Amino acid sequence: MVHPPAWTSEFSTLLSLLLLTLLVSVIHTEGQQIDDELSQNHVPKPRFVGSVRNKTAPLGREAILECSVENLGNYKVTWIKMDTETLLTFHTTIIAGENRLRVSHNNEKQWFLHIRDVQTSDKGAYMCQINSQPMINQVGYLDVLIPPSIISEETPSEVQVKEGLNATLKCKASGYPTPSISWKRENGKEIPLPRERSNLNDLAMGGNSSKRKFSAHQVSGEELQLVAVRREDSGAYLCIAKNGVTPTVSQRVKLVANFAPRVSVNRTELGVMRGDPARLECFVEGSPRPEIEWIGASGLKLNLTHSYGKYISTFSSHWYNHRYELFVNNFTHEDYGQYLCRAENRFGSREATIRVYEKPRPTVRPRPTRPPTTTAAPTRRTTWRWFTTMETFAIPEGIETANEVPSERDTGRRKGTRTPPFYARSNADLRLATCSYLSIVPTLCILLLSH
Ligand SMILES: *[C@@H]1O[C@H](CO)[C@@H](O)[C@H](O)[C@H]1NC(C)=O
Ligand SMILES: *[C@@H]1O[C@H](CO)[C@@H](O)[C@H](O)[C@H]1NC(C)=O
Ligand SMILES: *[C@@H]1O[C@H](CO)[C@@H](O)[C@H](O)[C@H]1NC(C)=O
Ligand SMILES: *[C@@H]1O[C@H](CO)[C@@H](O)[C@H](O)[C@H]1NC(C)=O
Ligand SMILES: *[C@@H]1O[C@H](CO)[C@@H](O)[C@H](O)[C@H]1NC(C)=O
Ligand SMILES: *[C@@H]1O[C@H](CO)[C@@H](O)[C@H](O)[C@H]1NC(C)=O
Repeated sequence: MVHPPAWTSEFSTLLSLLLLTLLVSVIHTEGQQIDDELSQNHVPKPRFVGSVRNKTAPLGREAILECSVENLGNYKVTWIKMDTETLLTFHTTIIAGENRLRVSHNNEKQWFLHIRDVQTSDKGAYMCQINSQPMINQVGYLDVLIPPSIISEETPSEVQVKEGLNATLKCKASGYPTPSISWKRENGKEIPLPRERSNLNDLAMGGNSSKRKFSAHQVSGEELQLVAVRREDSGAYLCIAKNGVTPTVSQRVKLVANFAPRVSVNRTELGVMRGDPARLECFVEGSPRPEIEWIGASGLKLNLTHSYGKYISTFSSHWYNHRYELFVNNFTHEDYGQYLCRAENRFGSREATIRVYEKPRPTVRPRPTRPPTTTAAPTRRTTWRWFTTMETFAIPEGIETANEVPSERDTGRRKGTRTPPFYARSNADLRLATCSYLSIVPTLCILLLSH
């Protein structure tokens, strides 16, 4: 009869011996006869109660395997990792396991193997063994779950396609169990399904945006097929990877439908008073963002970079919609005429024109000279107007401004607080007006008119 060796300082020798003994015993456990000697002593033999249950644990968490025994007596419980044949614990002593292992027991009846910060390598079969004669054992399995993670190398963050062609957005994710992939649009709109676009004719006939019958809020699969892509399909798509292990992850994939520019203007004619500034606007659809050229009244391309404040051009974009603005300061005789904005990208070029004509300056009634001190001063009328546009800001005393569309009664000469859009007569002010006009946060504003 082999007894478990006493715990000596000869640690390594013991360990090898123990491991060898155990493994040999494991192999010979089956089919061995009941020990006669033991049964004659009427000492109840150790046995297992139930079985070691299979467990799953997410990566990085703690896993606890449980082994229930009865009549342990002087025998000891050991835990063995089967794939590596590693003796992990002997009774309450940790033999291996990088400080991540712990053993606890409940009156030596329930034995728990705690595995902290679970790693993928912890996956596998664990044997709970009692070193009785013969040795007896039970096996349980630990499965390690891995939260989904998007494989960026296999998930292009942007896909460009010419309008009318097909596009495929791809997304791959790792994790255990294998994550399922689904797609949604970031803007919450529906995703067109391939069937809907089966008739490509209507696109060839000029892109009839007839109602979509086949679309879905969410589409599953690693590949999202988009047939006959339209410009309104452009935008961010979200690839969502899920496998039941938190956290679920998502990644943004941008779809860009490229097409030739389309240009339009808000007004084809614009009246501007001599000496006033003007704002010309050009609306362009196009992808990639078209380059724009402004051609002035002289018929020549405007040199915007060296105009000494004469011209200021700006643009703002939202996906394939772009707004280009040209500010022309201090209109003079030569500035009147036809302006043209030409937008060009690699798919084509388009243009639109705006005619700027001179608008007569309303005659200003001569102000009465300072009244004699003996009579009462004429009342200065002050009116207020509310504007729900951009910011308000004070205009320094003495700076003359003109409204975009001056009413007949307006003299174009004002002081006080103004709201955009408006034009100033000086460059310093024009800059301020431009900045403010481009501000995105709308506020309630007051326009103080003093005349
Ligand atoms: C435990 O897991 C193993 C391996 O996955 C499997 O063969 C066995 O049937 C499972 N046992 C139970 C009780 O689910
Ligand atoms: C786009 O996909 C549809 C449906 O799969 C197919 O019928 C069509 O030929 C494809 N078009 C191009 C240009 O590949
Ligand atoms: C677009 O298609 C629908 C249905 O196919 C049709 O009723 C409509 O007149 C078309 N619109 C244009 C602008 O062609
Ligand atoms: C275009 O002009 C119209 C009327 O002239 C105006 O209501 C509209 O706000 C303008 N659009 C933009 C974007 O300025
Ligand atoms: C604009 O004018 C400056 C100075 O005359 C010149 O150096 C520059 O090349 C011009 N730019 C364009 C786009 O014509
Ligand atoms: C406007 O242009 C005219 C003619 O070029 C010039 O005499 C005048 O000083 C300019 N005014 C401003 C405010 O720049």
